[in-house]
Amino acid sequence: MKILGFESSCDETAVSLVEDGRTVLADAVASQAEMHALYGGVVPEIASRKHVEAIAALTEQALRDAGCARSDVDAVAVTCAPGLIGAVLVGLSFAKSVALGLGVPLIPVHHIRGHIAANYLAFPELEPPFLALAISGGNTLLIDVAGYTDMKILGGTRDDAAGECFDKAARVLGLPYPGGKPLDELARKSRGGVYKLPHAHVDGAPLDMSFSGLKTAVVNLAHHAEQVGETLDRAALARDFAQAVSDTLVPRTMEAARLAGRKTIVAAGGVAANSVIRGDLERACQQAGRRLYLPPLRLCGDNGAMIAAQGYYEYLAGRTAGMELNAYATRDISEEIKA
Ligand code: KG4
Repeated sequence: MKILGFESSCDETAVSLVEDGRTVLADAVASQAEMHALYGGVVPEIASRKHVEAIAALTEQALRDAGCARSDVDAVAVTCAPGLIGAVLVGLSFAKSVALGLGVPLIPVHHIRGHIAANYLAFPELEPPFLALAISGGNTLLIDVAGYTDMKILGGTRDDAAGECFDKAARVLGLPYPGGKPLDELARKSRGGVYKLPHAHVDGAPLDMSFSGLKTAVVNLAHHAEQVGETLDRAALARDFAQAVSDTLVPRTMEAARLAGRKTIVAAGGVAANSVIRGDLERACQQAGRRLYLPPLRLCGDNGAMIAAQGYYEYLAGRTAGMELNAYATRDISEEIKA
């Protein structure tokens, strides 16, 4: 079954054709990151407009790259939540028109479910159940994935997402948007251990997290250094910051897997590209005897293939929608989206 997947929840317009949820036939992506870098972050109105400009040509490109005709498309999958509402609406409206025009089913996909499904594209043997750590620009969640469409949140951030925190820390370190990757590269130049940063705990909720205190601590450190004319060891601060994020995420991930009784752990989302987090997860899983799946870097960020992959399993579970399907800025990953 060939599914055309659409993703437009933030600053990447992406269209992909995937066969049976596992084989990528084409993956066309247009990133707007350079445009938003001028403003130091995503400008929602610009994001929506850029999606409008890119999406039709990308769809043609995806079909061309796959060597397929429009009539080869069996279904359309689309991110309908969560994300920047105007941006999500562009992809959703376009996907609806394609589904209607081709007379094929429309499949709603939760963006974070898509990030998790990116792993199905890289690892043919991977199947639920497993514990997923989903870390992206807007979400930080520990999810028990009991089945392809059966998910339960076990923990998550109470304030900022891990990616948001990386982007903010990168900004005060003078790095370009999106800052996660350049901060990761800078951090590799130091062994850290220079700056003492806070590690927050949420009372009574051992699997929940908080990143706002860490974010503020890095901002305050940088501003204070500027005010008193001190030179920051930028590489050490980047390393210590990444370590603080990892020290928050990794032990909770291991504990969540233990509590849920899952032997397999799967990482997902843009922040899953981080080298400190990947290394720490590898070591922790080895120690605890858990199997770890880390998505290849090219599948960590937003793409249409992950939406088509998850769309396949949503379709098998009978989860299609009509033209009344709406877009949502926020939506619980465990809920079925019907309209
Ligand atoms: O999953 P994603 O591409 O988009 C969302 O769905 O949000 O995640 C984007 C986030 C950004 O905050 C970006 O700075 C971060 O992922 N990111 C990283 C790395 N590469 C991307 N954060 C830390 N280390 C990286 N290597």
